[in-house]
Amino acid sequence: MTFPASSFSIGPIQVQPPLVMAPLHEITDQPFRRMIRQVGGVGLTVSEMISCEALIRHARKAERMMAGEGERPYAMQLAGCVPAHLADAARMARDAGADMIDLNMGCPASNVTRGGAGSALLKDIRLAESCVSAMIQAVDLPVTVKMRAGWDNSQKEKAEYLDFLKMFEAAGVKALAIHPRTRAQQYEGHADWSLIARAVEAGTSFPIIGNGDVNTPEDAHRMVAETGCHGVMIGRAALSNPWIFRQILEPGLEISEAERIDLCISFFQLILELLEPREALHKMKKIGSWFTKGIRGGVHFRQKLQVCNDPASILRELEALKAPHGD
Ligand SMILES: Cc1cc2nc3c(=O)[nH]c(=O)nc-3n(C[C@H](O)[C@H](O)[C@H](O)COP(=O)(O)O)c2cc1C
Repeated sequence: MTFPASSFSIGPIQVQPPLVMAPLHEITDQPFRRMIRQVGGVGLTVSEMISCEALIRHARKAERMMAGEGERPYAMQLAGCVPAHLADAARMARDAGADMIDLNMGCPASNVTRGGAGSALLKDIRLAESCVSAMIQAVDLPVTVKMRAGWDNSQKEKAEYLDFLKMFEAAGVKALAIHPRTRAQQYEGHADWSLIARAVEAGTSFPIIGNGDVNTPEDAHRMVAETGCHGVMIGRAALSNPWIFRQILEPGLEISEAERIDLCISFFQLILELLEPREALHKMKKIGSWFTKGIRGGVHFRQKLQVCNDPASILRELEALKAPHGD
C-alpha cells in the first residue's frame, strides 16, 4: 500500500510527502520539530502559534519561537486580528527565514479569542479577509490559513466555512488546513471529516489539508480515501508516536523499545543544545513521561523523573532503561 499522493504544492513550494506536523503550542518548538524531521516522513513543519502583538513589541520568547533552521519547508504561524500588525509580523517572519506564513483561525483558548484572534476570526469574515489580505500584500511568500469548522454549531450547520473558502480563494490564500471541530466543541466529540470532504468538493485552487483525530497510520489513509484531501496534518498522535508519519508511508514499520529510548536521548540532547537550561529541564521532565509510556521499566523511570533535577541524571536514567528489566 502506498500513500495516495506523493506531494502537493503550496504556491511554488512542494510538500513531499504530503504529511504535515500540526502546530501545538508549547510542544512543537524547534527541538521537537527537528526531532520529527530526523525521524522522517514529514513534508512540512509549522511553528507554534506566535502572537503578532508579542512580535511587534519584540518580546524575547516570541522572537525565539520564530527559529526554524534546519527545517525546509517551514511555516510560521501567526495569531492576531489587527491587519496592520499581522502585516508587520509577517515581514518579521519572512526576515527570520519562514518559507510561508500561516494565520491561526482555530485557536479556541479564551485568552486568544477574547481579543478577537484565533477562532474568533470565524465570527467576522470581513475582518478575516482584511487580515489575510494584509499578510498577502506584506510578503512575497505563500500565506496559508488553519481554521476550525466554525465558531459554534449554528455556524457549522449553515456551512459558513465554505464562504470563508471562497473569500480565501479571492484573497490569494495558498493552502488551507481544516480541523473540523467548532470552537464551541474545543477538543470534545469528534472531528467531522465530512466537512473536509465538502471543502475538497468545493474545488478550490489551493490544496486542502485535513486535520483532526488521525490517531493511527490507518486513520491517515482513511482520511484521504473518505475526503480526498491533498495532505494530512497530525498533532497529538505524533507526541506519543513520532514515527506515525513514516508508518503511513511504510506500512508495517515497527519500532523497538531501544529505538524509542535512543530517540528520546537524542531529542533531549537537542533540547539541551537549543533551549535555556531551566526551560530544557522542564521540557525533559514533561516529554520523558509521554515518551516512556508502554516501555518496560517506564513506571520506575517516571517515578525517578519526578525527583531528577538535572539533565545529566535524566539522561543516565534513560540509558539505564535500555538495560533489560521489568516494571
Ligand atoms: C496542546 C495543543 C496545542 C495546540 N496548539 C496549536 C497552535 O499553536 N496552533 C494551531 O493552529 N493549532 C493548535 N492546536 C490544534 C492542533 O494543531 C490540531 O488542530 C488539533 O490537535 C487536532 O489535530 P489532532 O487530532 O491530530 O491532534 C493545538 C492542540 C493542542 C492539543
